[in-house]
Amino acid sequence: MGIVVSMVCEAMPPGIVIDVGGGTAQTRVLWPVSWRYISIDPDERMAQLNDKHSIERKIGSAGSLPFENESVDVVLTQNTSHHLDDETWCAFLGDAHRVLKPEGTLIFMDAVLSKTRNISNVFWKLDAGHFQRTAEELQDAIASIFLITDTRQITLIHDVLTVTAKKS
Ligand SMILES: C[S@@+](CC[C@H](N)C(=O)[O-])C[C@H]1O[C@@H](n2cnc3c(N)ncnc32)[C@H](O)[C@@H]1O
Repeated sequence: MGIVVSMVCEAMPPGIVIDVGGGTAQTRVLWPVSWRYISIDPDERMAQLNDKHSIERKIGSAGSLPFENESVDVVLTQNTSHHLDDETWCAFLGDAHRVLKPEGTLIFMDAVLSKTRNISNVFWKLDAGHFQRTAEELQDAIASIFLITDTRQITLIHDVLTVTAKKS
């Protein structure tokens, strides 16, 4: 994720990044302080956290982002799509497209379903998220709305997919 964030930040001036399903907002440290960073998460406990870094927090869902049309430079989502049912996942992609500025960027990262990796399947059974998808399913959904500019995959316990995409 750090490499992808560096690539994106080098290509555009500082702006607004929203971290959808930001949780504890640990990715804030990857962004230059010149960027305004806003985490959106439905878990109200996250809004109570005392943050050391400049993190703004909103309570909300990926399926209905609390932002104006074309008001955001980067939509980031990390380790969250497997918590979203199909309806919310599709709504998220549409809403991410809506809130992004015309030159805006989507950064997606999540572990994927890989039916042949037994260790991965064991860990998925223990996971709090129940909507795992294959890399192909995720990329196809993103590509149906965005123009994908970069994809990466690494294998940890799970295969982890990172996709960077432009609005058009
Ligand atoms: C595994 S955590 C990832 C947190 C953070 N992005 C990270 O990488 O450390 C998944 C997060 O998704 C959030 N989440 C669950 N349902 C959501 C929804 N409908 N919209 C946005 N976030 C959601 C959870 O509250 C949780 O904070």
